[in-house]
Amino acid sequence: IVISYLFVYLMLLMPYSPSKILSFHSAVIGTGLNVKLMLYTRKNLTCAQAVNSTALGNLNVTKKTAFIVHGFRPTGSPPVWIGDLVEGLLFVEDMNVVVVDWNRGATTVIYNHAASKTKKVAVVLKEFIDQMLAKGASLDNIYMIGVSLGAHISGFVGEMYDGQLGRITGLDPAGPLFTGKPPQDRLDPSDAQFVDVIHSDIDALGYREPLGNIDFYPNGGLDQPGCPKTIFGGLQYFKCDHQRSVYLYLSSLRENCTITAYPCDSYQDYRNGKCVSCLTPQKESCPLLGYYADHWEDYLKDKDPPMTKAFFDTAEEKPFCMYHYFVDILTWNKNIRRGDITIKLRDKAGSTTESKINHEPATFQKYHQVSLLARFNQDLDKVAAISLMFSTGSIVGPKYKLRILRMKLRSLAHPERPQLCRYDLVLTENVETVFQPILCPKLQM
Ligand SMILES: *[C@@H]1O[C@H](CO)[C@@H](O)[C@H](O)[C@H]1NC(C)=O
Ligand SMILES: *[C@@H]1O[C@H](CO)[C@@H](O)[C@H](O)[C@H]1NC(C)=O
Ligand SMILES: *[C@@H]1O[C@H](CO)[C@@H](O)[C@H](O)[C@H]1NC(C)=O
Ligand SMILES: *[C@@H]1O[C@H](CO)[C@@H](O)[C@H](O)[C@H]1NC(C)=O
Repeated sequence: IVISYLFVYLMLLMPYSPSKILSFHSAVIGTGLNVKLMLYTRKNLTCAQAVNSTALGNLNVTKKTAFIVHGFRPTGSPPVWIGDLVEGLLFVEDMNVVVVDWNRGATTVIYNHAASKTKKVAVVLKEFIDQMLAKGASLDNIYMIGVSLGAHISGFVGEMYDGQLGRITGLDPAGPLFTGKPPQDRLDPSDAQFVDVIHSDIDALGYREPLGNIDFYPNGGLDQPGCPKTIFGGLQYFKCDHQRSVYLYLSSLRENCTITAYPCDSYQDYRNGKCVSCLTPQKESCPLLGYYADHWEDYLKDKDPPMTKAFFDTAEEKPFCMYHYFVDILTWNKNIRRGDITIKLRDKAGSTTESKINHEPATFQKYHQVSLLARFNQDLDKVAAISLMFSTGSIVGPKYKLRILRMKLRSLAHPERPQLCRYDLVLTENVETVFQPILCPKLQM
């Protein structure tokens, strides 16, 4: 025991041993940090140029500069998504992209150790940015994209510039060892002019509480659809939810569907359709996830404090978008009925898409309209048929009926589309009822 204890002790001391420090330029590098900055531009999409604070290379200081700061790399290999992220950013805008590789080859680094180095990485980045500023760059044009631990590193850099950096995007900022820390020891909204955060793994590797001006919680921030639910999913089980934040961000650069989020106090309220006020004309628009999230900056400036949580659901795979509809149902049952509705849409070409509205059983009461939020993977423009199924969840016992006076389907993403109606329907429990909708009259009573 004593020997192994000694061994661990020596391992911990090693990077700080005097001989090491002497062999490097500065104490920062002497701690075993090996920060490499790789510059990509539209002219150099695939072959990066190594840059540092004494050699800015082809970096054009008049353009925007995005820094990509990755997280903990237990294997030391570069993350698989780096290439796509660089390419995506350069696709949407002519800028400098600097990949910050801060634990290259650090295969023995343990998480606690990596976390303790984050402030030192930030110091190296500040040295580099100071040189950019000396050459004429503007802080407004600095954009840091930090993944996991990288999100907090970005926050530390921002803090050293008193929050004057243009923007920080935190992609599932690391939770372990950072949760509950004061703002100066983690990412916080005062670290840049605009801080947007995606939380995709709040119950494991990510950070639960809001850290930015706008905090996006896909699928509530917990389990991401399409990720393994059990440990039999192998390594993916540990990192899939955490990495989803990166893939969602990537989607905003690449795909032609935009992920809209809904400002809300809780995921439950969002699922219950209570948070769609941003869809009403004359109000602020709904925030978009990812690269274009900064379009919302001006709305946030009016808020006190300037912080918003936004929720949305995603599909299991790329491009992750879901299309939101309201299903308004007016019933005339004598007794109150509680249950779920499953709705399917079919277009003229025969494509179908299904939504199970099952977050909380809805309560249908005579002459009370219930608005259910339905989410579909596909956006069918010309709906030819609708199918509805009502379920109370009980398999035995009497089959209940739900008498519908009017049902109305309206697209949230495309409010200009005609609303579809159907009158006088009786749904029998667990039986699919298929019908052709008609256009709702222009003026609804
Ligand atoms: C592209 O990268 C290479 C390798 O680092 C470098 O020598 C070259 O100057 C770069 N070219 C441009 C146009 O940036
Ligand atoms: C900075 O980069 C230049 C060019 O790649 C290199 O010659 C120089 O040694 C580097 N300086 C430091 C301090 O790493
Ligand atoms: C730097 O970028 C500016 C603005 O995009 C452009 O006008 C200028 O020509 C660029 N300089 C170089 C050396 O490419
Ligand atoms: C982009 O849009 C086109 C036509 O609108 C569609 O066919 C294509 O599948 C879309 N691509 C993605 C990745 O969603």
